[in-house]
Amino acid sequence: MTSHKEKIRLTPEQETLLITLYSKAMGCPESLFADEKSREILEHIDYDFSQLKIPVGTRLTVCIRAKKIDDYVMDFLADNPKGLVLHLGCGLDSRYNRVDNGDIEWYDLDMQEVIDLRKNFFEETDRYHMIASSVTDLRWLETIPSQGRAVMVIAEGLMMYLTEEEVRSLILKLKDNYPGCEFVFDAYSTLTARSVKGHPSLRRTGAVIHWGIDDAKEIEKWGDGIRLKEEWYFTQSEAIEILAFGYRLIFKLTGFFMVARKAHRILYCAL
Ligand SMILES: C[S@@+](CC[C@H](N)C(=O)[O-])C[C@H]1O[C@@H](n2cnc3c(N)ncnc32)[C@H](O)[C@@H]1O
Repeated sequence: MTSHKEKIRLTPEQETLLITLYSKAMGCPESLFADEKSREILEHIDYDFSQLKIPVGTRLTVCIRAKKIDDYVMDFLADNPKGLVLHLGCGLDSRYNRVDNGDIEWYDLDMQEVIDLRKNFFEETDRYHMIASSVTDLRWLETIPSQGRAVMVIAEGLMMYLTEEEVRSLILKLKDNYPGCEFVFDAYSTLTARSVKGHPSLRRTGAVIHWGIDDAKEIEKWGDGIRLKEEWYFTQSEAIEILAFGYRLIFKLTGFFMVARKAHRILYCAL
């Protein structure tokens, strides 16, 4: 990387990647999640991050989510060392660098402007690729054959920006293209989807949230054989034990109320 700083020219939904980049770069706390590559990238972005007013709670949630999804991918790779991983709405995340086992093939997908920015920080190889496309333009799936490999698809902080129809079409197309694949993503409740526009960082970017779901089992009704393997609440994270007292208390209290637990959680489906 050069000392040159990259100017940011992104749409509101794309700009939200700076919230997660900053959160991952800051770690929260270090022992929970540390990401050197995010720190490096942050130093090379020409942007006033203070204007995002990222609450500590958001940084925490982003790191807990990233750690949990890393764990899911590492479990998948333990069982399928030569597996194929598709990472949708990747932003500037460096999960491939964090979990690569030397054998997997990995595709990071995001919109053209994001991939153009990303190419300043990541290089393609014969096992690591970047795709510039909206995830909703389902033609991108035709370009990645599974060739008999086990497939895991992940979407971190993406699905809430899609409409329900887009979410459903994506899931059905993934199922069609990669029967039996694993799909891990985080989802808001409908209440969160309606109320999150008051979040200071989202408000600053102007991004619009569309999708939330209350009963995650509903997804099983979208297609034969779709199975919700796990609905994982942030309050289940072991990380809570190492948080400062105030945050530990908030997470523990949240754990008592279903509506609060479901406000934002990770869903793990087999398609
Ligand atoms: C909150 S950021 C999350 C970035 C990354 N997953 C992370 O956790 O660091 C949301 C990302 O979704 C991407 N995104 C939003 N709508 C998209 C779409 N229709 N197709 C592809 N990417 C999309 C944005 O460009 C952005 O990179």
